[in-house]
Amino acid sequence: MQLIKNEIKKRDHAIKNICCIGAGYVGGPTMAVIADKCPHINITVVDVNKDRIDFWNHPDVNNIPVFEPGLSNIISRVRGVNLHFSTEVNDEISKADMVFLCVNTPTKTKGLGAGKASDLKWIEACARQVAKSAVGHTIVVEKSTLPVRTAKTIQTILESSQPFNSESNGNKTFSVLSNPEFLAEGTAIKDLESPDRVLIGGEDNQAINSLSDIYSNWVPDSKIIKTNLWSSELSKLSANAFLAQRISSINSIAAFCEATGGDVREVAKAIGSDNRIGSKFLQAGPGFGGSCFKKDILNLTYLSEYFGLKEVANYWESVIALNEWQKQRIARKVVDNLFGTISGKSIAILGFSFKANTNDTRESPSIDIAKKLLEEGANLFIHDPKVEKNQIEKDLNIPEFKHSDYDENILRANNEEGSWMYKKSIKDALYNVDAAIILTEWNDYYNIKWDELSLNMRRPAWVFDTRSVVKPDEIKKAGLNLWRLGD
Ligand SMILES: NC(=O)c1ccc[n+]([C@@H]2O[C@H](COP(=O)([O-])OP(=O)(O)OC[C@H]3O[C@@H](n4cnc5c(N)ncnc54)[C@H](O)[C@@H]3O)[C@@H](O)[C@H]2O)c1
Repeated sequence: MQLIKNEIKKRDHAIKNICCIGAGYVGGPTMAVIADKCPHINITVVDVNKDRIDFWNHPDVNNIPVFEPGLSNIISRVRGVNLHFSTEVNDEISKADMVFLCVNTPTKTKGLGAGKASDLKWIEACARQVAKSAVGHTIVVEKSTLPVRTAKTIQTILESSQPFNSESNGNKTFSVLSNPEFLAEGTAIKDLESPDRVLIGGEDNQAINSLSDIYSNWVPDSKIIKTNLWSSELSKLSANAFLAQRISSINSIAAFCEATGGDVREVAKAIGSDNRIGSKFLQAGPGFGGSCFKKDILNLTYLSEYFGLKEVANYWESVIALNEWQKQRIARKVVDNLFGTISGKSIAILGFSFKANTNDTRESPSIDIAKKLLEEGANLFIHDPKVEKNQIEKDLNIPEFKHSDYDENILRANNEEGSWMYKKSIKDALYNVDAAIILTEWNDYYNIKWDELSLNMRRPAWVFDTRSVVKPDEIKKAGLNLWRLGD
């Protein structure tokens, strides 16, 4: 009897049509996994960016705009079946029982709170679109990372879409939920398929159940955490702040190791064996990147200041300050080791994405480090297995150095402002360079045959390993100098 009742309850609030606004790094993979796990739900991902939608619809699934291991396989299974990509935003909102807001929330660049507060103009635009186009009852789910109490703003915009006079009041109704996404780029599919937890914040129990029923198709109930709206919004900001803090903490210890003779890998292992600390996220590196950590901490500091919590703001700000310092410190180590000048010298940059297994370069440490080296007059040969040349050009904001007949003398003389060239293979990137800097932990870099490739480097040549990728013995055997972060 109880079973039948539950069945009826489920059917009452069962979701049949989902619209996801925002076809980016979160919207695309998240909806692909939901579509794969819930064949009974029809999902359309919409975006104002027509190019992006065209790539999601590209006949060759290897050309979809987001690279994530396992994603293209899922897309080939569900696209055109129960997952669709479209630019018809209003139309798709009107058909949906549930709308996910998955749009970008970058840091404001001007106006009040510039440099710290999140820019909510895209979220607000979405809320207005939903208010205008929704039909009947619609559950609106915040998937984007948002400042605490944004749900209130969304609710106010949605409610104001009701006609004033109103017998028809009630034609459109809304419930707002917070369901932040915890996926990490590079492991997004794994994270979505077996999440540590799914967090749902809200006040309307029926709406909460509708959303948790979707996840229950593959996530155990014990991993679905239900909270109030504000706890949910704040948990996402806090989780990112804690993760970033761990990276800054271990990077601070890496610098300490270099000064004192410790080895950060050994220290990380020793402290990570303590259950209370744990071993994950303890790898020293060139600093955290990605679109979220810095933006979310800045947002947390902005909110702390707003609520008069200056000391809290200062505490979290220091996590970012250490990250910025780390990138500058690495650039300085390169210059120092290459006899105090890199003007006119050639340096291979191995890795441009902010971490392995993603083509995302947002806030990648490689950008700031490359810019600093260019400022010092270096000629950079940049390689990355997944990042396209155009993206590097956009990030560095300098055109690629072009010379039809590649001539080393021209390049070496081009030492006023530095220059960069895109290299398709590691071998080409290392050809005739004074140094190679490993900035992303791509698998390809673990397998470099240094004994062979070093023969083409200009001696005395250096390898700067910021990701603990190389085996020191191999580098030494190849006759190269090695600088390892935290050694
Ligand atoms: N990238 C991550 O790893 C990650 C992880 C967890 C949470 N988040 C959060 O998720 C949110 C989205 O991040 P992302 O990396 O997917 O961003 P993204 O920039 O890759 O994608 C956002 C998309 O939204 C579209 N968009 C903006 N306004 C629109 C509108 N009014 N109508 C239709 N489309 C619109 C943009 O064109 C863009 O394609 C952010 O708040 C981010 O902080 C990101």
